[in-house]
Amino acid sequence: MKSIELNINDALYFAEKQYVATEGEAVEAITKLEKGTGLGSDYIGWVNLASETPASLVEQINATAARLREACEYVVCIGIGGSYLGAKAVNTALSDSFADYYAPAPKSPKVLYAGQNIGEDYMAELQNLLKDKKFGIIVISKSGTTTEPAIAFRILRDQLEAQAGKEAAKDLIVAITDANKGALRTMADQEGWQTYVIPDNVGGRFSVLTPVGLLPIAVAGHDIARLLAGAADMEKETAHPGPDNISEVYARMRNALYRSGKKIELLVNYNPKLHFFSEWWKQLYGESEGKDGKGIFPASVDNTTDLHSMGQWIQEGERTIFETVISVKKPALSVRVPENAANLDGINYLAGKNVDEVNKMAELGTKIAHVEGGVPNMRIEISKLDEYVLGQLIYFFEKACGISGYLLGVNPFNQPGVEAYKKNMFALLEKPGYETETAAIKTKIQG
Ligand code: PA5
Repeated sequence: MKSIELNINDALYFAEKQYVATEGEAVEAITKLEKGTGLGSDYIGWVNLASETPASLVEQINATAARLREACEYVVCIGIGGSYLGAKAVNTALSDSFADYYAPAPKSPKVLYAGQNIGEDYMAELQNLLKDKKFGIIVISKSGTTTEPAIAFRILRDQLEAQAGKEAAKDLIVAITDANKGALRTMADQEGWQTYVIPDNVGGRFSVLTPVGLLPIAVAGHDIARLLAGAADMEKETAHPGPDNISEVYARMRNALYRSGKKIELLVNYNPKLHFFSEWWKQLYGESEGKDGKGIFPASVDNTTDLHSMGQWIQEGERTIFETVISVKKPALSVRVPENAANLDGINYLAGKNVDEVNKMAELGTKIAHVEGGVPNMRIEISKLDEYVLGQLIYFFEKACGISGYLLGVNPFNQPGVEAYKKNMFALLEKPGYETETAAIKTKIQG
């Protein structure tokens, strides 16, 4: 029994002709990824990353995590996009849903996140929480120059140095950045902070299995060696084309659906722990494929919650969507619905059943209704939520993303579009060097 099973039967008949037509293209795409001959091949270091990560790096990361766990009640991970979403996805999936509401325990700090927004209230409230607390900072930026994390780091570094003292703060800051360039690298070298390197050939959204994700995940107390082992096994399973390569099958099916007019993919979960996994997936696919006027729009819903908000649209709205459901076969814990003598809520017919049995019937009922309503459905069943399975799932989606981008005919490894808002923001904030853009944008907004 595999940890991940993909079923495309309820999608195939919507676009069988297009699916068959992608077979040769998929062989080419996989060859390009394995041989490094496709577009953007300077950024495919993630393809063999898991199997090639030395045990010594894992040990070093675990030692740093142990040091931070010993010294801190809170560890703030500062980063945005690919420098944040992977760690947040794995930590949310593997942690107790209410972990943040328990007090920090010795050697088990709370992992918090900053620098992924520019919310002033968020920042001020975080500062209030950290006041007089023992905390550490993991600051993550590949470029070392991104505005959101730079602001958060400047504010929290000041607070840490004020609370712990400048010398002691040095041991409580870890920087993860480029080996040689960027402001963060310069600061880290000058200040003597511990650093980890983000490999040049791994882009942000593919970096969860580098120190970018591994250190915050280890600090949260999860087993990063198992995460890498899961990914490495999936690496082997998806190295060659064929019907057993589930990354290929998923990539082909979603492209076949796109070619048949389905422009939006909903990643659906029935477990709230997967909410941020969907956020990670949206960045992975959105930044990789949304370019050159093309690309499936990646969206997500958390069910059954969103069946009570988005369910109507999915059932009867424009027929341009398809769904990919991630279903967790076995919950880790068990709760049964109790019998109630009065039965005023009328749910005694469920008494004695595990909550998950109801959840699974909700999932099946929804699938039948949506497929009959014209929404193709792919189903990814994972055996459980643990490090090994998540490592497999991460690599499965990364590999499929590379294949899918090539099937779409784009460079899946660049993101030229994300610069447009930055240029305008810098012009509006009158950043030195942006004088021409400032004058132009002022004319534009003044009409
Ligand atoms: O995937 C990407 O490249 C982006 O989402 C980046 O990860 C994000 O913009 C953060 O960049 P950096 O790590 O350079 O601060």
